[in-house]
Amino acid sequence: MSKLIATNLLLLFVCHLHLIVISHAFSDLEVLMFLKASLIGPGGAGLDDWDDSKTGGDGGGSLHCSFSGVTCDDNSRVTSLNITSVPLFGTIAPEIGLLDKLVNLSLVADNLTGPIPPEMSKLTSLRIVYLSHNDFKGVLNGELVMKMAELEVFDCYDNSLTGLLPTEFVKLPKLRTLNLGGNFFYGSIPEEYAEFQTLEILLLFGNGLSGRIPPGLGRLRNLQNLSLGYYNKYDGGIPPEFGSLSNLRHLDLGGCNLTGEIPATLGKLKQMDTLFLQENNLTGLLPVEFSGCICLMSFDVSLNNLTGEIPMEYSALKNLTLLNLFHNRFHGPVPSYVGDLPNLEVLQIWENEFTFELPENLGSNGRLKQLDISSNHITGMIPRDLCKGGKLEMLILMKNFLLGPIPEKLGECKSLIEFRAMRNFLNGTIPAGMFNLPSLDMIELTDNYLTGDLPQEIGNVKLGSLILSNNRITGNIPPAIGNLKELQTLSLDMNQLVGGMPEEISNLKKLSVLNLEGNGLTGEIPVFLSQCSKLTNLDLSRNNLHGVIPRELTTLQVLNALNLSRNQLTGEIPGELGLMNGLTSLDLSYNDFTGVRPTDGLLKFFPNRSFEGNPNLCPPHARICASASNSGHGSRSGLMTTTSKIVIALVALLTVLLIFACVWMKIRLRNFEKSRAWKLTPFQKLEFNTEDVLECLKEENIIGKGGAGIVYRGSMPAGVEVAIKRLIGHSAGQRDHGFTAEIQTLGKIRHRHIVRLLGYLCNKDTNLLLYEYMSNGSLGEILHGNKGAHLQWESRYRIAVEAAKGLCYLHHDCSPSIIHRDVKSNNILLDSDYEAHVADFGLAKFFHNNGASECMSSIAGSYGYIAPEYAYTLKIDQKSDVYSFGVVLLELITGRKPVGEFGEGVDIVMWVRNTMSELSKPSDAASVLAILDSRLTQYPLASAVNLFKIAMMCVEDESSARPTMRAVVHMLTSSPLQIAGAGAGAAEVQPNLL
Ligand SMILES: *[C@@H]1O[C@H](CO)[C@@H](O)[C@H](O)[C@H]1NC(C)=O
Ligand SMILES: *[C@@H]1O[C@H](CO)[C@@H](O)[C@H](O)[C@H]1NC(C)=O
Repeated sequence: MSKLIATNLLLLFVCHLHLIVISHAFSDLEVLMFLKASLIGPGGAGLDDWDDSKTGGDGGGSLHCSFSGVTCDDNSRVTSLNITSVPLFGTIAPEIGLLDKLVNLSLVADNLTGPIPPEMSKLTSLRIVYLSHNDFKGVLNGELVMKMAELEVFDCYDNSLTGLLPTEFVKLPKLRTLNLGGNFFYGSIPEEYAEFQTLEILLLFGNGLSGRIPPGLGRLRNLQNLSLGYYNKYDGGIPPEFGSLSNLRHLDLGGCNLTGEIPATLGKLKQMDTLFLQENNLTGLLPVEFSGCICLMSFDVSLNNLTGEIPMEYSALKNLTLLNLFHNRFHGPVPSYVGDLPNLEVLQIWENEFTFELPENLGSNGRLKQLDISSNHITGMIPRDLCKGGKLEMLILMKNFLLGPIPEKLGECKSLIEFRAMRNFLNGTIPAGMFNLPSLDMIELTDNYLTGDLPQEIGNVKLGSLILSNNRITGNIPPAIGNLKELQTLSLDMNQLVGGMPEEISNLKKLSVLNLEGNGLTGEIPVFLSQCSKLTNLDLSRNNLHGVIPRELTTLQVLNALNLSRNQLTGEIPGELGLMNGLTSLDLSYNDFTGVRPTDGLLKFFPNRSFEGNPNLCPPHARICASASNSGHGSRSGLMTTTSKIVIALVALLTVLLIFACVWMKIRLRNFEKSRAWKLTPFQKLEFNTEDVLECLKEENIIGKGGAGIVYRGSMPAGVEVAIKRLIGHSAGQRDHGFTAEIQTLGKIRHRHIVRLLGYLCNKDTNLLLYEYMSNGSLGEILHGNKGAHLQWESRYRIAVEAAKGLCYLHHDCSPSIIHRDVKSNNILLDSDYEAHVADFGLAKFFHNNGASECMSSIAGSYGYIAPEYAYTLKIDQKSDVYSFGVVLLELITGRKPVGEFGEGVDIVMWVRNTMSELSKPSDAASVLAILDSRLTQYPLASAVNLFKIAMMCVEDESSARPTMRAVVHMLTSSPLQIAGAGAGAAEVQPNLL
């Protein structure tokens, strides 16, 4: 035994000796050359001037002191190595341990990887270590810093380091800054961190930390900046002890699962200028005591569950520049002193229950930049001085009860970029100046009571969207509208405009949507519209237009919807319309067209509905068409007077009548038979007919069966594939329950990530829904089948984002909003590029006639996806969809089915929670690794953690704690690797990092 120890000692001694020998054997020049060799990895570049070929290699010179990034002392020993933003891609060689005079080591944003070499522990002179924005990996061992008694700054922000937070830092007598943010550290914040003596900055945000935040941190009297949030997920709330951090200026606890109330003690932080508590589950009221934080500039408590009113006492917070209260349950007024805050720049209070009027003098401080009060119950007038200082950029007032006119002064607000005020009760005229603002990109004032004419003077400005639908605007469309060269959307529908369309519209070369529906426009359809070559959507319906459809219109290459219905248009319908390849929607109904209905090209696929209400239009292929011969009146001679001619004419007339009657009878009969059998309602141009569809309803074409129906695959003659869903348990013969109306609504929905409903086919007892065919089937089939391994991380994440966007559209952008009711992996379909499309939305409520067992699955989703509140309220809302979506995210992460794999009564959510609770060192990262689909070969941990975190928010038991789909999309798309971008708070921290 003792022999063994002796041998070990000897070995140790030899090693030690060896090192000493090395340190004497290599000059700093040689060490730097070692470093260079390993710093530059595969594909790396830079450090070109680190070149030792000019010396004899004696090592005594000072050549290396002139290398870029190198600083030496008088003895030519390296004291500082500072290499920033050089794409090196290599690692730090262990030889760095030989630069024992090094004081400053800054290797920032050099794309370095590998471990931080333990040999660095010998660099006992180090004062400053910056290793941020690289990809250093491995466990950060505290022994590394144990002997660095001089260390003042240690910053390894934004790397891939892991392990528990090292406690050794606490012993360093001079440490001022410790930044371990943006890594994968897990476990709790050590209680020992309360013992730091000199620490001023402690940044631990953006890791996988858990447990309670140690109250002892309240003892760090020198602390100025404390940031612990984002991606960390703590138990419990904010320690009231933080009220003792008397030097604290910046406290950022955003996005880290904090619960409970905001401690009133924080009101003692007299120096605090920034308090970020957004994106938590904080409840209760805003503490009145915060009125003591007189330095407070940025105050963000958005995205919590806070209630109550904004305390009157906050009038003392004269330095507030940012006040974010959105998405809570605040009520009461926005106090009038908010208007007096001299520095207020950002006020965002959307999605609350605020009432009363806005402070009359809001904005009169001359600094307001952003105001968003959407979705409250605010009434009164729009304050006059919002843009007094000429800084206002965003003014969003949607969905409130605002009255009165838009202040004239907003028409002088040159800084304004976005102005949205739809769904209010605004009246009066839109300030003329508004149409001349140089930065304005969007005006959206739909659904108000605005009156007056559009101004005759419109500047040559950037406006991209001008949306004034459903108001009471009168007068002509001014010719000056042609000055809006950047305009893409012009929606003036449902107003009281009169006169013709001015020729200047043809200057709008970027115009994509022109909607003038429901006005009193007169004149002919102008030929010059054909010069707006980017038009995709042209709606001139419900006006008083006359004349013919100009053939030139058919040169619009990208037009896909043309609505000219309900005018007094005449003449023949140009067959060239059928050659416009993009046209998917055409409505020419209720006009006065004559001649034979053309069937050129695509025209034969449009339904009769597109042409109905034209009494003088002959059906397609009519051999004899009275209106057509009438229209040829130019060649008619009035000189036929002889009886023979009269007789001939009479005979001819009789023959015509007879033939016409026959044709008419035949058509009637055919239509009658058809209507008795099947009725096809297309929602876009269909290149097939009823027979084509019915032919596909064969056993061998079945591609799926579910609670609500059987799905067939149909190959249509033109090579188009469709999915035909035959609904069970509901038929038009039974009471309709609004089914047809609902289908109509669904047919109108167009979104890239929603499966398009092409049409609807029904007869007395069958309903068939025709959908786009998705060649890769459902996410559920793929994920839970043997092809699941092909779906690697990147695809899964992309599918999550795409499906979220589809759902978000249904919830937030459709009017009325649509609840899916059956979100599950089997209802997320993948096209040939594996792009995700949400299917089967909004239907589940119509299937209450099914058997008892299917009752659950059809009314409110499928087993394993049902939100807990359904069990006791039997009600569902958007948040129930969010829950189901969370389950889908868990399926993507784990590759497991929502039920059936975890034992009796255990679903995927419970299983994940159980697994997490059994971890010895719980953290998001550890949880993810414990549940991650083993078929995933490569995945960025940060991305997996992000998806997991979002999934767990979605499956919160309390429906109000779940995010909205809009928030989900936001969280999914703000990249997890750019942790600094995760919230306003992190962005604020940035300047301190380097
Ligand atoms: C490193 O060099 C950059 C300029 O290249 C300088 O801005 C930065 O302050 C230096 N960092 C340290 C810690 O010396
Ligand atoms: C190198 O790192 C920087 C920041 O750390 C990053 O923005 C950049 O994309 C990386 N370059 C490559 C080629 O990976």
